Amino acid sequence: MDTEIVKIASLDSEALENIKKASRILENGGLVVFPTETVYGLGADATNEAAVTAIFKAKGRPSDNPLIIHISKPEDAEEYAYTTDIYYKLAKAFMPGPLTVVLESKETVPLKTRGGLSTVAVRCPENSIARALISALGKPIAAPSANLSGSPSPTVASHVIDDMTGRVDMIIDGNDADFGLESTIVKPNADGSVTLLRPGKITVSDLEAVVGRVILADAVTDKLPEGAVALSPGMKYRHYAPKAPVTLLDGDTVQCIEYVRAEGANNVAFIAYSEDVSKVKSALPFATVYDFGSFADEKEQAHRLFALLRIADKENFNIIYAPLPSKNGVGLALYNRMIRAAAHKIIRLGR
Ligand code: TXA
Ligand code: MG
Repeated sequence: MDTEIVKIASLDSEALENIKKASRILENGGLVVFPTETVYGLGADATNEAAVTAIFKAKGRPSDNPLIIHISKPEDAEEYAYTTDIYYKLAKAFMPGPLTVVLESKETVPLKTRGGLSTVAVRCPENSIARALISALGKPIAAPSANLSGSPSPTVASHVIDDMTGRVDMIIDGNDADFGLESTIVKPNADGSVTLLRPGKITVSDLEAVVGRVILADAVTDKLPEGAVALSPGMKYRHYAPKAPVTLLDGDTVQCIEYVRAEGANNVAFIAYSEDVSKVKSALPFATVYDFGSFADEKEQAHRLFALLRIADKENFNIIYAPLPSKNGVGLALYNRMIRAAAHKIIRLGR
């Protein structure tokens, strides 16, 4: 398949022509990669079963892992899902933006799109290119992250070009993703609380300010026991996994350095907070050190994480060491992605 790559820097008249073209591709059952404020999405008409089937094939994604449908206004959910008061409370506070809400689905959403579930995940993105494309199509766009299944989600166009060239009809090269980790996913409960299925930029305390009580699904911070049913099917797959094994270190800088030195592995990478980069470089001259952003700047770390994992992947390291993030604020989203990248390998150094 030929893949057309179009660059859109701002929504000028040429960009609008390209968005029209992209919308015609979607209308005809094709696949278009587009930017969002979280990560790039691999889009198809959510109501077209054959088109949605092509998404699963292009990504190599298991067919029981449901897709998020992207709408341009919160009210557009009405045609596809049974909305609730909580949905509109959340929409008022966080949409458009990086929040996905799981609702009971209407029959208008093909089962294929929702991976056979009775529910559908709804998100109204903020990115202006994404919004223009959904509006031009006039229907929701089903879109998973635009990576090959098992790779980190793409946060810059070159990631998408690496993974999806030859697999999709068009790639829209927009700006780098603003946040860099996928949307927060919640499922409202009958008692007014919500269950957090995937943490993201919208944090537990952001949600608590709107809905009262937030329950963390077990898979957010822990490994699911063998055979357990995940509330969000994506949680059971090994995700965000670079080729080299990742080990997370729970300790202060000196403890981490001592541990890595004692392990004595060669060809290693070390993802370090900015404040520690020079210390780690001089203490571990054999390691390739990557700057994760400042210790207290979790948004910057979120912005860099997937790109760093992709860069490290190209170097064929034997092992990648990284700090274990906190579970506070945006830290919880980093923690959730990094324990998956590390297949839950955490070394406790006893702080
Ligand atoms: O930020 C994002 O959400 C990006 C951009 C492109 O919008 N999309 C994204 O999609 O991350 P994906 O498919 O890579 O991750 C969606 C997650 C999966 O883990 C899936 O299992 C879960 O959402 N999911 C989708 N529908 C669901 C449902 N009905 N119930 C529970 N979980 C659902
Ligand atoms: Mg994904």
